[in-house]
Amino acid sequence: MRSALNFVHLLIPEKMDVAIDATVGRGRDSLLLAQRSKKLIGFEIQKEALQEAAILLRDYDVSLYNHCHSQMDKFVKSGVDLIMFNLGYLPGGDKALCTDPSTTELAIRKGLKLLKVGGIILIVAYTHSRGLEEIKMLENLNISQKEADVFRFIHHNGINQPPQAWVLVKK
Ligand SMILES: C[S@@+](CC[C@H](N)C(=O)[O-])C[C@H]1O[C@@H](n2cnc3c(N)ncnc32)[C@H](O)[C@@H]1O
Repeated sequence: MRSALNFVHLLIPEKMDVAIDATVGRGRDSLLLAQRSKKLIGFEIQKEALQEAAILLRDYDVSLYNHCHSQMDKFVKSGVDLIMFNLGYLPGGDKALCTDPSTTELAIRKGLKLLKVGGIILIVAYTHSRGLEEIKMLENLNISQKEADVFRFIHHNGINQPPQAWVLVKK
């Protein structure tokens, strides 16, 4: 295991009914989720990336939406096993098109309502300056233990402020 991203990949169940990729990008995380779910729903604000993802995912039952993940409750109403957020910007893309703490927070709160009991939200959060704002938002989420267990995994001896993983398990 080399990174927070590798770590959250280890937590993806082998078999799921419905998974959501909240940050599809070019679809690498989505591919793993699609292989393990009956249905994958994905959100991405960059149309070109989404088109690349659609090609990668063509053999699977996938619905991809060129919308902000904070709109996810308009497209799915319940019964979700897992929601993944790989935050930040598209590697090799426009760094200005980065996830935003306020819409990420809204999406996480809506996502929790869509999950089955025992369903999980996986978040990879980065430590560039915009990412640090999202980490602060995550620290302040203040989700009650009745609603979900919230875990944070840090690469304690990693160099250059490595990304961290957050895991929410719905009660
Ligand atoms: C780290 S990349 C995701 C990488 C992707 N999962 C992959 O495997 O290629 C983060 C992505 O989030 C997207 N993004 C930023 N804000 C978003 C939003 N509000 N809703 C959905 N996607 C967003 C960016 O455009 C970017 O492609």
